[in-house]
Amino acid sequence: MEIINAKTAGFCFGVRRAVEMAEKAAGEFGGCVTLGQLIHNNDVVRALEDKGVRTVNTADEVLPGQTVIIRSHGVGMAEYEALRAKGANIVDATCPEVKRIHDMVRDDWQAGRQIIIFGERDHPEVIASAGWCEGAIVLESAEEAEKLVKNRPELAAIPVTVVSQTTAVRERFDFCINILKKLCTNLKIFDTICYTTANRQKEAASLASQCEAVVVIGGRHSANSVKLAEICAPLCDKVFFIENAEALDISQLRGIKTVGVTAGASTPEWIIKEVNKKMSDEIREEVSEIRDEQPEQAVETAAEETAQAVQAQAEAPEAESAEEASFEEMLEKSIKTLHTGEKVTGIVAAVTPTEVSIDLGTKQSGYIPASEITDDPNANVNDIVKVGDSIEAYVMRVNDVEGTVMLSKKRLDSVKAWDDIAQARNERTVVEGKVTEENKGGVVVNLKGIRVFVPASQSGLPKDTPMTELVGKTVRLRITEVNQPRRRVVGSIRAVQFEERRERAEKLWEEIEVGKHYNGVVKSMTSYGAFVDIGGVDGMVHVSEISWDRIRQPADVLSIGQEIDVYVISFDKENKKISLGYKDPNANPWTKFTDTYKVDDVAEVKIVKLMAFGAFAEIIPGVDGLIHISQIANQRIGKPDEVLSEGETVNAKIVNIDEENHKVSLSIRALLSAEAAPVAEEE
Ligand code: F3S
Repeated sequence: MEIINAKTAGFCFGVRRAVEMAEKAAGEFGGCVTLGQLIHNNDVVRALEDKGVRTVNTADEVLPGQTVIIRSHGVGMAEYEALRAKGANIVDATCPEVKRIHDMVRDDWQAGRQIIIFGERDHPEVIASAGWCEGAIVLESAEEAEKLVKNRPELAAIPVTVVSQTTAVRERFDFCINILKKLCTNLKIFDTICYTTANRQKEAASLASQCEAVVVIGGRHSANSVKLAEICAPLCDKVFFIENAEALDISQLRGIKTVGVTAGASTPEWIIKEVNKKMSDEIREEVSEIRDEQPEQAVETAAEETAQAVQAQAEAPEAESAEEASFEEMLEKSIKTLHTGEKVTGIVAAVTPTEVSIDLGTKQSGYIPASEITDDPNANVNDIVKVGDSIEAYVMRVNDVEGTVMLSKKRLDSVKAWDDIAQARNERTVVEGKVTEENKGGVVVNLKGIRVFVPASQSGLPKDTPMTELVGKTVRLRITEVNQPRRRVVGSIRAVQFEERRERAEKLWEEIEVGKHYNGVVKSMTSYGAFVDIGGVDGMVHVSEISWDRIRQPADVLSIGQEIDVYVISFDKENKKISLGYKDPNANPWTKFTDTYKVDDVAEVKIVKLMAFGAFAEIIPGVDGLIHISQIANQRIGKPDEVLSEGETVNAKIVNIDEENHKVSLSIRALLSAEAAPVAEEE
């Protein structure tokens, strides 16, 4: 039989800390009481009693001046007040992870939010958390969440905050949240499931899927131990939930090849070792049986192999213990050497909107408040750190009483950032940052957490453009001034734009040629043309080159800021002038006209303008012809409007085409009389 012990089995940090605090207090004060059973394990409670740690159930039972341990589950506000009123000496062993839930509950309730706690209604931790607000709703299951959604429609309109019991099963919590999301429009979710619980549950599921049997060690009242057994049950046929070695019926493990062992957060190491030992003894017995039944040689080999395995398994707890001892020493050492301002490295254990929990490998719990992650007010903590990331931070505060270490990532980043900024200033490198706000006289760019002021004149925006246009945008800038003692950094976006524009202009002048197309932006317009930026250089499109149609001014077709495709008509490198065309040469109406019509053809034309000397008529869009007054009618007329009116459509004969000047002469009279005079010369 192979025994696989879960790495995460046994006391969690919070429980270990509470037990140690109780033992210390009992020694220091000659005994103490715990408000409620310190942990859900009768063996440990009995062992503590032997050391002078007794259990009381309510604050009323506490005597004035008596030392009271608040267990890792914590208590509500009222209990603290009652204990203070009694004059008790309070030793608060509330797990820091749980304490943070209390703070969230209190703060959000005070901010007018409805609190929902996902967890077991009767669990001391849930009762304690609910004791930091009024009217908390406790949900034990998805079914209860469904009922709530149905029966309390008013929750849709009020802000709601949800927290979870630290030992809840994540899938169930997520399921419940999805239901609440259907109703609550203003929902704040704190995933407060303790990462040690989540890891323990994950490992238990993995053991259950690979072993023939799983032994879960924990008290019957220990919620997290019960959950471990529940998680293993669907994955493994044989799950034995026992409180200690005595409760293990070893005969049930006979014939099983692999057994997984896990334990709840309130199970001490010595109980896990006893269970291991009992199973190892069973293996020894199996070996003896083999020895009795098999020939000597085979027995020797089998016995040797099995004994080695047994030895390894049996010694495992001892080895662990030795390892633990040296680990403890290292731990103590590391705790003592943690100082404010020191740089530490840890692993991200959990991320909530308000803080990030860091596993520093010590028994102190590291955390970084959201405000110490980054200076960017718009940043999302989840985008910056992920569970499992290795992270470097500065120690801000060590609280040995609470067992917490407050860390700051942004300050470490800031030191690095100042170095980088000074280097960027010295080496004149271009840096990139996000504009976070408009400021009096300019904008502020966040550069790795450092505020860089960019004066309006250096913003690169055209005059009179509001600075707000830049807010939220990522910009490239050059650092022009660094004064770290005064925490002042000045930058220029314009300098970068200027240099980039100059580089592009140089390249453009090297490569320019007639007919080359550019994608340009209309920068300004006059009555005679539009100036277009084609990449560092402005060219001019004359009004006649904007459209084939008759237009009065460029603004009839173009607008400032419009992106247009232009081509080079001519350029002068020396005087830095470029003449551009916008109208499509392939859509030239004259070409279309000459391809379609020739002299003597008859065309249906539209009278577009009446003049004293004749009428202009549109033959095709973009090509007009002139009907001289003498060619309008057979008889002499005083003015063209005696016969024609604007907008009228008539048939006219093409009597002359002037290719050079793109002019066309038309005649209506030629169609009325065969003796129409040749008019072209006359005109
Ligand atoms: Fe604390 Fe997590 Fe244990 S919340 S008490 S460390 S399970």
